[in-house]
Amino acid sequence: MAQLSAGSSDVPDLGRRQFMNLLTFGTITGTVLGGAFPFISYFVPPASGAAGGGATAKDASGNDVLVSQFIAGKQKGDRALTQGLKGDPTYIVVGDGTVLDYGINAICTHLGCVVPWNGAENKFMCPCHGSQYDTTGKMVRGPAPKSLPLAHAAVVEDKVSLTPWTEDDFRDGSPAWWA
Ligand code: FES
Repeated sequence: MAQLSAGSSDVPDLGRRQFMNLLTFGTITGTVLGGAFPFISYFVPPASGAAGGGATAKDASGNDVLVSQFIAGKQKGDRALTQGLKGDPTYIVVGDGTVLDYGINAICTHLGCVVPWNGAENKFMCPCHGSQYDTTGKMVRGPAPKSLPLAHAAVVEDKVSLTPWTEDDFRDGSPAWWA
């Protein structure tokens, strides 16, 4: 995983409130956000309670994401931020009346900014140094050296159960570099 960059002179050190705003309003359209959103290391929730190194996706308030509510008002293809494995900001992908079976870690593999989803451009675009990732989080433009990490996502009793992705990366067939 990339080094976290809070405190770096390259990356504005924005606070928890702004990160929480991004978590709450995770889909970014256009260039509304001109700033940067470095992942703040203190943003780590209490133990999530899932077995096997997994976690239940949580919302900005720390409550379990309920899929039935989560997808209400969202469009197929939307990507919305949750708190995922180890508290990492993780995108859940909205499918047809449910969520897809993988989540995308939102921490840029360059220097650790949280990468917003840009629905208008249909890609993840890092505001810090311009890295871009496609709809699945595959890196398509540097300086980021790698794609965004994946997690398995499964709906269990209306909650999103996230578990570590240790298999090959389905996007390019390479070993999961983050595992
Ligand atoms: Fe540098 Fe994302 S942190 S491009």
